[in-house]
Amino acid sequence: MKSKNVILIGFMGVGKTEIGKKLAEKLGLAYIDTDDIIESRAGKTINNIFTEEGEAVFRDIESGILDELAGKSGQVVSTGGGMILRPENVKKMKGMGPLVLLWASPEVIHERVKNAGTRPLLNVPDPMKKIDEILEFRTPIYKSVADLEVDTSRLSPEEACNKIVEFLGKGK
Ligand code: S3P
Repeated sequence: MKSKNVILIGFMGVGKTEIGKKLAEKLGLAYIDTDDIIESRAGKTINNIFTEEGEAVFRDIESGILDELAGKSGQVVSTGGGMILRPENVKKMKGMGPLVLLWASPEVIHERVKNAGTRPLLNVPDPMKKIDEILEFRTPIYKSVADLEVDTSRLSPEEACNKIVEFLGKGK
């Protein structure tokens, strides 16, 4: 397991950060969050990158970070919800290790993200509608690239983590 990476993909609010940290601890791997790297490199929040420079600039930075991570091993990589939008990103992630899709119902996602204010794509008058729209477009992509899917709607982070560990054990 040491030499491998585990890549967490999925929509905003599905639990990638919390589950990813637990998983990294359990597996003895480093925890990496692509959004955190982007914010510390840019010296500004994701909200500010979106408003000052636009989504396309954010996506370029995001792909650049993935390039760097692709050469490394021993990481649990929690990716931003839109990382799967570029096919070249998917190709790179596929070469890094298993892609674990974390999932949650639109209602649960809304409940988890509604007070945070940190997701520029959901800073709109009707976030629930926006969640549905983005999910409609992205769901086929998420599902087609995932090696494992874990619905976190009714699971604790610990339970979700155990499902991933079990899956990884089977793949050995
Ligand atoms: C995005 C998800 C966010 C962040 C950015 C865009 C998306 O990450 O990368 O706001 O397009 O789904 P999280 O999924 O970690 O919230």
